[in-house]
Amino acid sequence: MTQQVPPLLSVRGVTKSFPGVRALHNMHLELRRGEVLALVGENGAGKSTLMKLLSGIYTPDQGTFELNGQEFVPHGPKHAQESGISIIHQEFNLMPDLTVAQNIFIGREPRRFGLLSEYA
Ligand SMILES: Nc1ncnc2c1ncn2[C@@H]1O[C@H](COP(=O)(O)OP(=O)(O)OP(=O)(O)O)[C@@H](O)[C@H]1O
Ligand SMILES: [Mg+2]
Repeated sequence: MTQQVPPLLSVRGVTKSFPGVRALHNMHLELRRGEVLALVGENGAGKSTLMKLLSGIYTPDQGTFELNGQEFVPHGPKHAQESGISIIHQEFNLMPDLTVAQNIFIGREPRRFGLLSEYA
């Protein structure tokens, strides 16, 4: 019997409205370990809204998320990051003197023996 590996991330029927606009309607998505997924859509399609829902900035009106097969209710960016979800927002808040990797790992830099490790 083969064991089913659950997707790393599942988006199940997520709906989110703002006054006068439904940004996401019954959205489904699955991301598997090792997969790189591009979310493509026109301006206002709801891409950033999905990222903000995943990082707990907004809460969905309907639908759920699962991480590694378990329900995931993000309480905020820190909780999301601790759960393995890092967002680099489109509305730039990057540190221009740092590398892409350093920007991604801000606040949870790889360490070895208590020192920052560039190679970990
Ligand atoms: N905080 C908010 N309050 C009200 N409406 C919002 C809010 N955030 C997003 N919206 C609306 O929800 C819809 C989806 O916006 P979103 O920013 O998620 O789109 P997007 O796919 O990221 O677009 P873009 O390609 O322009 O970045 C748009 O109609 C937008 O105006
Ligand atoms: Mg956007």
